[in-house]
Amino acid sequence: MASSLRVGVLTGGGDCPGLNAVIRAVTKSLILQHGAEVFGFEEGYLGMIERRVRPLAYRDASGILNAGGTILGTSNKANPFDFYGRDGADVSAEVVSYCIEELKLDAVVVIGGDGSMSIAHGLNEHGLPIVGVPKTIDNDLMETDRTFGFDTAVNIATEALDRLQTTAQSHQRVMIVETMGRYAGWIALYAGVAGGADVILIPEFPYEIEEIVSVCKTRAQGKQRFTIIAVAEGAAPKGGDRVVQQIIEDSPDPLRLGGVCKVLEAQLKQHLGSEIRTTILGHTQRGGSPTPYDRVLATGYGTYAAAMVADGQFGRMVALQDNRLTSVPLSAVANKVKTVSPSHPMVAAALAVGTSLGVPDLDVRLQGDQRSSIVS
Ligand code: F6P
Repeated sequence: MASSLRVGVLTGGGDCPGLNAVIRAVTKSLILQHGAEVFGFEEGYLGMIERRVRPLAYRDASGILNAGGTILGTSNKANPFDFYGRDGADVSAEVVSYCIEELKLDAVVVIGGDGSMSIAHGLNEHGLPIVGVPKTIDNDLMETDRTFGFDTAVNIATEALDRLQTTAQSHQRVMIVETMGRYAGWIALYAGVAGGADVILIPEFPYEIEEIVSVCKTRAQGKQRFTIIAVAEGAAPKGGDRVVQQIIEDSPDPLRLGGVCKVLEAQLKQHLGSEIRTTILGHTQRGGSPTPYDRVLATGYGTYAAAMVADGQFGRMVALQDNRLTSVPLSAVANKVKTVSPSHPMVAAALAVGTSLGVPDLDVRLQGDQRSSIVS
């Protein structure tokens, strides 16, 4: 099949289960369905800036569907509009010219989260045709019901909650489990519901310590004498601050959250007689093989992105809305974060089964028309 289509692919930002499944789907379907030549940038936008690119043949994309990480590598620091390697210089014009004039690319598929999509939007505005694919365990990208990687992270966190429940039960302890998620509580909310946590604390609802103490005390006096608390790393007490674990100066998003479970432990110790233990799940939520759901979603996203490239639909990101694949403008995604709204049906569902969200008067009722979207 004769075709002049030449397409670049990169994985940007923090890694996530399912990246290789998307690379596979994009590469194989571009080659098989559209006769394209595919090129992979190494380490995300860093490879684009430093001119590190390699051809991706069909065989390169074979055998990687279930592999964690990314065969291309990634960087969560390189931004062509503010490149740390050249004192914050804007090298975007160079990058666009390199891709179009030298590599003669017709398009680039950017697989990334909000930071990568914001850069993709900028480069697209500067004339580089781009199709985005939404990645992140945090599920915090706008305009899509799901990012790939989220389901895997929720599975890992749920398994941890299940395991911690039996040991909590044996010792009648309070177990605090901290999930990732940055400024959004999706992982803690979904894993907390799936793992039957007694308390779920997310950034969207600043918690009140008296409420958590009351849940723990009531449970300690009842039949189930243990308490499981799922807390998102971005959660904070009412009127208090998030816990910053470290600041990475040369990162576009320098704050790394983490450690709220220790703060919470110290707060609870002042009020409870029970023993308390903490577990920070950290990067275990990002490593290893994607779940079947994420492999399916990644394959759908990747093949849809390839079709968009062939159709010349640029400046857009693949999305899942109401269980259908579609696409949305990058401008609607760039520089935005999707957080958990109080009216989200999973919030109402958690409350309806008696789970505390750390706020005494949070009273959200299931709306009839929201029920169908709980699992969408
Ligand atoms: O965005 C994904 C994520 O894992 C967040 O949940 C977390 O806050 C952050 O990345 C951790 O970043 P790093 O890998 O740089 O420590």
